[in-house]
Amino acid sequence: MIIPVILSGGSGSRLWPVSREHYPKQFLKLNSDTHSLLQETVLRLQGLPDCREPLIVCNEQHRFLVAEQLNSLGVPPARILLEKEGRNTAPALALAAMAALEVEDDPQLLVMPADHVIERPEAFLAAVSDGFSMVASGSLVTFGIQPATANTGYGYIRKGAPQGAGFSVSAFVEKPDAERAQQYLESGDYLWNSGIFLFRARQYLAELAEHAADILQSCETAYHNRSEDLDFLRVDNAAFGECRSDSIDYAVMERTRHAAVIPMDPGWNDIGAWDSLHDLKAKHANAEGNAIQGDVLLHASRNNFVRSESRLVAAVGVNNLIIVETDDAVLVADRDHAQDTKQIVNVLKSRK
Ligand code: GDD
Ligand code: MG
Repeated sequence: MIIPVILSGGSGSRLWPVSREHYPKQFLKLNSDTHSLLQETVLRLQGLPDCREPLIVCNEQHRFLVAEQLNSLGVPPARILLEKEGRNTAPALALAAMAALEVEDDPQLLVMPADHVIERPEAFLAAVSDGFSMVASGSLVTFGIQPATANTGYGYIRKGAPQGAGFSVSAFVEKPDAERAQQYLESGDYLWNSGIFLFRARQYLAELAEHAADILQSCETAYHNRSEDLDFLRVDNAAFGECRSDSIDYAVMERTRHAAVIPMDPGWNDIGAWDSLHDLKAKHANAEGNAIQGDVLLHASRNNFVRSESRLVAAVGVNNLIIVETDDAVLVADRDHAQDTKQIVNVLKSRK
């Protein structure tokens, strides 16, 4: 039995001004006109056999957004686990594993970030299905993407011996520096970690006990003292607040001896910043390499991403720009500086 776990705690500050603290990117229709990234994440599971209702882990301020977005799809969540303040993905997944063990004796968890785009869900589901037997025989499976650039925002996985439909993991390096990322890319031996995982709930907790016992301890206390109303499950804020903040990548995947990777090519994109959305959309766009969303007119312009939400946006003779218009803010950025949009958000936060 599979229980999907959807991680929805991110703030998406690099996608400002559309993504906001109260309404971050996973709740927005960034890729499609009809569904948010969270809704697309839920919908792509249709057709996966033996799949139960999803568990969502999110910040408590987004609880009604999550509930409404799932209910409008007719996919009621198993539970929505609420964090007052996130402690990154290792603790969030510990809570999810504990909640999943109340649904099933020892389910497999399919962990998915709420903010990724997957263009070919059937290729994704085929890779997931390949993972079932590997997980049953004791692996923590990640799904690997052929790297295209030396991006330092990803985990890099060194393929080991063939195992099942994939490989054992001979090294997992989370967010290497630029020099190492370049070496890994050139070696041809590494895959990017997609951030999507498949493992048994009990095994994840056992790995935490071995590699991050303090995180497990804090999460056990926080979960034990939980309160529940409707679909919402609130862990004990004081105990969870004490928990060390760490990602599954550093806390478990870099340390475990049981990691395996299945390569996949489902048109994966983690929509980290506006340039990722440009890459995704420009593939299907015109010869000039522009990708536009909304009411936009361009003349003699190439390689731009322009999104308009409330007014006509026109640009003439400009190249390599990101232009994003909303009713209260406009972003103009060089495409190569798209990652730095979060610096603007930092300044805005300090003004509050
Ligand atoms: N509930 C909850 N609580 N969710 C969280 C928290 C938290 O405290 N922190 C992050 N998340 C969610 C984010 O919303 C996102 O969906 C997912 O967990 C991954 O977190 P990111 O912060 O986006 O991680 P990353 O992009 O830096 O790195 C991860 O993903 C890369 C691929 O996109 C790693 O797994 C990398 O190894 C991987 O390459
Ligand atoms: Mg991410």
